[in-house]
Amino acid sequence: MIQKIRCDQIRAGMYIHGFGGSWLRHPFWSRRFLLECPEDVEKVRNSDVPYVLVDDELGIGPDQSARQDALRPTEPLRVESRRPTEAAENFGDEKRASDKQQAQKLVLRSKKVIQSAFDRARLGRAVRISDVIDVVNEINVSVARTPHALLSVTRLKTKDEYTYLHSVAVCALMINVSRHLGLDSATILDLGLAGLLHDVGKMGVPDPILNKAGRLSDEEFAIIKTHPEQGYQMLCAAPNMVESALDVCRHHHEKLDGTGYPFGIEGSKISFAARLGAICDVYDAVTSVRPYKDAWAPTEAVAAMWSWEGHFDRKLLFSFMQSIGIFPTGMLVRLRSNRLGIVLNNRRRVSRPRVLAFYSAREKQFVNPETVVIKDSLDGDQIISPEFPSEWGFKDWEAMVNHLQDGRLPPLAAGGC
Ligand SMILES: [Fe+2]
Ligand SMILES: [Fe+2]
Repeated sequence: MIQKIRCDQIRAGMYIHGFGGSWLRHPFWSRRFLLECPEDVEKVRNSDVPYVLVDDELGIGPDQSARQDALRPTEPLRVESRRPTEAAENFGDEKRASDKQQAQKLVLRSKKVIQSAFDRARLGRAVRISDVIDVVNEINVSVARTPHALLSVTRLKTKDEYTYLHSVAVCALMINVSRHLGLDSATILDLGLAGLLHDVGKMGVPDPILNKAGRLSDEEFAIIKTHPEQGYQMLCAAPNMVESALDVCRHHHEKLDGTGYPFGIEGSKISFAARLGAICDVYDAVTSVRPYKDAWAPTEAVAAMWSWEGHFDRKLLFSFMQSIGIFPTGMLVRLRSNRLGIVLNNRRRVSRPRVLAFYSAREKQFVNPETVVIKDSLDGDQIISPEFPSEWGFKDWEAMVNHLQDGRLPPLAAGGC
């Protein structure tokens, strides 16, 4: 239900449905979004809008927040069950199934909206932010609640719907990594919008070339390569288009070493938004299941992307891996516990990353190997950075990996441990 409240009643966790008064006085360009970080709460409280509309179905309502404040010091609710583990497992399965169902509905709705916005672009009409911003907001809410549900249902794409579902997936990935990076709400939505619109220029590429299953000829590839600039021109025609959406659209095929297109710009000349867009774009493209090609497994995709020297911003690529919880098997990483470990092969299709911790970074010595399961919550150990074997004096890294993956320390280390 939509409720009208005063600015001073605003709290984190509320879903903003709109602001009162002239839009020129609104604290954010986006009308609808989930209010999360304290700075944004302050921004609304200090604004001079006469009132705020909140949706208590998509976020907490004024009554709920008051009730939550009152309840905070009380004991957690106890649920009696004769077989608590089984009950929790059943609840987990039911929740996963319902999350997936909700995600499927959202993807279906989003696909229709983006399809009609892109059809407008195909006809030479401007893509309006107001046509698609609700989709960006809904994807943001869905990613905040269950990050993986939405991404799992966008992997399967038929030929005809590929560009639309790819746009939805890149939007979700951009939002997910932006949230992981702790960016503010307005920037998260800007980057989500940029992901949603990054390939709008493909509407200017003839369908037979766009959907060709086989190898493209040089002439056909030259036509494909026009889509970033075509998209940029389409978005420029829209009133008040967000800067990062223009930027990602025009530069998402640039590479850090200057070998990308359309301009071949390099390094820091490529904006943060475009560098992030390039990562999300390629990850979704290679992990998508399409009728004419096998999809890469997520771990294969991140391993290949990590190995492509000069293509991506590696710092951002590592943040991206953290945001999706997928790392290349065999990668040397540092854990929050200040141990070094290698990422183990996760054969199960959907599971948390596992790391074999074997070395104390503080003591600079081998420790008894321990398998650490990386969880979403902050109460366990976390992967905090990539490390390089040569910098730690690990000679013959490949042989070391073989020993460690068998759960054993390498011979010399085992003697000195
Ligand atoms: Fe593209
Ligand atoms: Fe793309």
